[in-house]
Amino acid sequence: MSLESLTALVRTIPDFPKPGIAFRDITTLLADPAGFAELIDRMADRIRPLEPQFLVGVEARGFILAAALARVLGAGFVPVRKAGKLPGPTVGIDYVLEYGADRLELHQGQVPVGARVVLVDDLIATGGTALAAAQLLREQGAQLMLALFAIDLPDLGGMDLLRNDGVAAEALLAFE
Ligand code: PRP
Ligand code: ADE
Repeated sequence: MSLESLTALVRTIPDFPKPGIAFRDITTLLADPAGFAELIDRMADRIRPLEPQFLVGVEARGFILAAALARVLGAGFVPVRKAGKLPGPTVGIDYVLEYGADRLELHQGQVPVGARVVLVDDLIATGGTALAAAQLLREQGAQLMLALFAIDLPDLGGMDLLRNDGVAAEALLAFE
């Protein structure tokens, strides 16, 4: 399946969650067996040579892709969650959003010092979420090999934010 066909499986919902936002909805792609397989295969082909020990997914949509990739690549899956959701002892990072602030957490010790990890999310917009997750992983001593996204919104500059911080970052699809 071509990248164009994959792109066509992403649904755009205007004015969600607020007026002016064109929400790029991957549920239509995930519900298409050939599309979901193609997305995971393409992401797996990019990640495989990096030989990661862990695929780290960011809540909530990042879990879907990172878990499927971990299974395909024979790696572990580690969730990064919003504050207060993980049951064990956590390490966390506070970060600033466009409006207000938030906190991401990781189970303490789940990513060992020196571990080879790849960060996965469905979409990068401003990059605030991914940068916080990347910094949290680095603080734990992980080797962050790549941050990989299904979708980039290049107008919002998230990729540059990551790359300016020294994080290798790529995406499969782009929406203006
Ligand atoms: C979305 C998306 C990324 C983040 C990207 O998640 O899945 O995690 O926003 O935005 P940013 O680059 O501007 O930080 P959202 O916070 O909507 O949470 P969800 O996956 O739980 O729906
Ligand atoms: N997260 C941030 N911006 C988004 C968008 N336009 N579509 C889907 N998820 C998003």
